[in-house]
Amino acid sequence: MKKIICDNYEESCRAAADIFTEQLRQKPESVLGLSTGSTPIGLYAQLVSRYNEGKIDFSRATAFNLDEYYPIKQNHAQSYKTFMEEYLFSKVNFAQTHIPNGEASDVEAECTRFDAELEAAGGVDLQLLGIGTNGHIGFNEPAVTYPLGSSLAHLSEDSLKSNARFFTKGETQPTTALTMGVGQIFAAKHILMLISGTNKTEITKKLFEGKLHTDVPACFLLLHPNVTFVMDKAAAGV
Ligand code: PGA
Repeated sequence: MKKIICDNYEESCRAAADIFTEQLRQKPESVLGLSTGSTPIGLYAQLVSRYNEGKIDFSRATAFNLDEYYPIKQNHAQSYKTFMEEYLFSKVNFAQTHIPNGEASDVEAECTRFDAELEAAGGVDLQLLGIGTNGHIGFNEPAVTYPLGSSLAHLSEDSLKSNARFFTKGETQPTTALTMGVGQIFAAKHILMLISGTNKTEITKKLFEGKLHTDVPACFLLLHPNVTFVMDKAAAGV
């Protein structure tokens, strides 16, 4: 386990971008697992500017996103598909991108399709993760048991509250989502968790207090053989 504490958010995004840059330098055909939310925005901006400067190339890389609201129109302003197009996919040159389809009529078939595509791609080389204030990874919310593969998740009160800020009045906020399972996340060869801000100080403290809290899904990462936590001082509480 590697822990990198940066002075501020910008620096943590640069440190995370360095890891992506090195990953693609070593393996241009990498499968990158990507996340959404506020945290990766600065990282994606870094990747876009490095791409524009010719310092990183995604032309042989494949992206798999962790999750997507369900149901949601793919072109909805708050869909994760729209988010990824806006912040990254439309601005760089990925060979292929995959996001669970929030418009699929059959949830089970969509999860099976997504899992088969991920398996055919050989699994994830580098998985980017954020952390929920409740410790969720993807939309794997605190629970007694966790799905290994993709499934339909019911968003916790905590996640609904955290994400409500993105939805304007009159927009219906989905209460369920399609998410990669804990098993698929854990199967990534390298996991990079980016943590930022004072709203994450409490959960970060719990994550690193030396116990495996089974109701904090992010704690499972502590058992992973190749995980890097990049956080700013605000999240680290120092
Ligand atoms: P946030 O979300 O970056 O918007 O805090 C992180 C997450 O829920 O994984």
